[in-house]
Amino acid sequence: MRVISTEHSQVLATRVARALDVKLVDVKFSRFPDGEHYLKTGELDDETVIIGSVPDNDALVQLILLIDTCAESRCRLVIPYMAYARQDKQFNKGEPLSARAVARALSSGVDDVTTINIHDPSILPYFSVPARNISIAEDIGMYLRTLDLKNPLILAPDDGALNFAKGVAAVGGWDVDHLEKTRLSGVEVKMDSKQLSASSRSIVIVDDIISTGGTIATAAGMLYQQGATEVYTACVHGVLTSGAYARLMASGIRDVVCSDTIERACSRISAADRIAHALKNP
Ligand code: R5P
Repeated sequence: MRVISTEHSQVLATRVARALDVKLVDVKFSRFPDGEHYLKTGELDDETVIIGSVPDNDALVQLILLIDTCAESRCRLVIPYMAYARQDKQFNKGEPLSARAVARALSSGVDDVTTINIHDPSILPYFSVPARNISIAEDIGMYLRTLDLKNPLILAPDDGALNFAKGVAAVGGWDVDHLEKTRLSGVEVKMDSKQLSASSRSIVIVDDIISTGGTIATAAGMLYQQGATEVYTACVHGVLTSGAYARLMASGIRDVVCSDTIERACSRISAADRIAHALKNP
């Protein structure tokens, strides 16, 4: 078995290869003069694990090309972060079901798929090969245990993230609750209060994705008004678009941490061991 990755998942792929104690395959990425992607892999084996997050359109094309290169051997695909997953329904007539379109495109040529905290598990059946999702909630909990949290409360920004928050909170036996989020636009949300008091507590808002940071910034502002001592945030996928990291830190959030499903300077939690374990136990 060998591990290979797209440009976006080089660090995570290296960690997975080390955890599996298998070789990492070198890939040279470049572009044709018109901007089209090109790649050339090193020597492949009869079983390849591709690690390829899809944070943007270029990464999607690179991943499709890489799958095509590896498809002659047994080829297992890990998609740590899959863009377009939030369009997981046809919300209005005439719209694509984008999650289904991407899942179908990435199924061709692979034997199975593993995702990490995909936005909604209802997407998995759209892959035309066996697909499963694994969660790194426990790894986030273990990271939080290294912080000096005072009477911590783990908070999901909406009830959709509550199960994930429960998985994080279980590590420390911490309190867990959720807010009520109403999305007003792509960048604006409205937050309503939760049941447990935030007063004089360390609050950690956890979510699968931080994109514009609007959800977390709005929640943090409300929690400080309610007397929270400090607010942290941790997520799996740090999309962090349009200056979200700086916006969150400027809003008084003590720290923003994410995993290496999208490789960022604030990726302080790794999904590698969890991925390696899943690959060894199909
Ligand atoms: C939505 O349901 C997701 O779980 C996240 O809450 C959302 O993607 C965060 O987006 P933003 O950071 O732009 O508020």
